[in-house]
Amino acid sequence: MNSLATTEPRSAKYALYQEICEQLQELLGDEKNFIANAANTSALLFQSLPDVNWVGFYIADGKHLVLGPFQGKPACVRIPFGKGVCGTSAARRKTIVVPDVNAFPGHIFCDTASKSEIVVPLLNWGRLLGVLDIDSASLNRFDDDDKEGVESVVAVFLASQVTNDLPDLSEEAAVS
Ligand code: SME
Repeated sequence: MNSLATTEPRSAKYALYQEICEQLQELLGDEKNFIANAANTSALLFQSLPDVNWVGFYIADGKHLVLGPFQGKPACVRIPFGKGVCGTSAARRKTIVVPDVNAFPGHIFCDTASKSEIVVPLLNWGRLLGVLDIDSASLNRFDDDDKEGVESVVAVFLASQVTNDLPDLSEEAAVS
């Protein structure tokens, strides 16, 4: 296999994720609401990525991840930290790519059609906000290029959240 053949698919994916990031930036604009932005992010990814059957957020809440905005079939509501792919990604604070969900010990089935999965943690200045989970009905759907691409999408989403932790010093807040 020559080098062109190996770089071709990578550039195609790179271009797709770059386009998604640009569209997301425009879609989110100046909005900072977590739920609204997570809802639009999951919808954009679900519409734009080929061969995915579930895209959604789990939000950190105490010792659990709780189901947030998503696209796809109804899913399990609470996942303890350290459990399943989502809980493992949250506990390790690392992206996890699972080529075959049946080979991942403790994988939690929400949609039995799902065969492979990628989970990216949402880290805001070191604080875990939750995870973004994407499933596919195909084996081995996600590779290193998807990891890089989905992490870039998460970075755009997190940029919209960046000032959320700052205290509200506006006049309105002082009056109420
Ligand atoms: N498979 C995930 C559970 C969430 S669903 O796929 C939507 C897991 O093992 O954490």
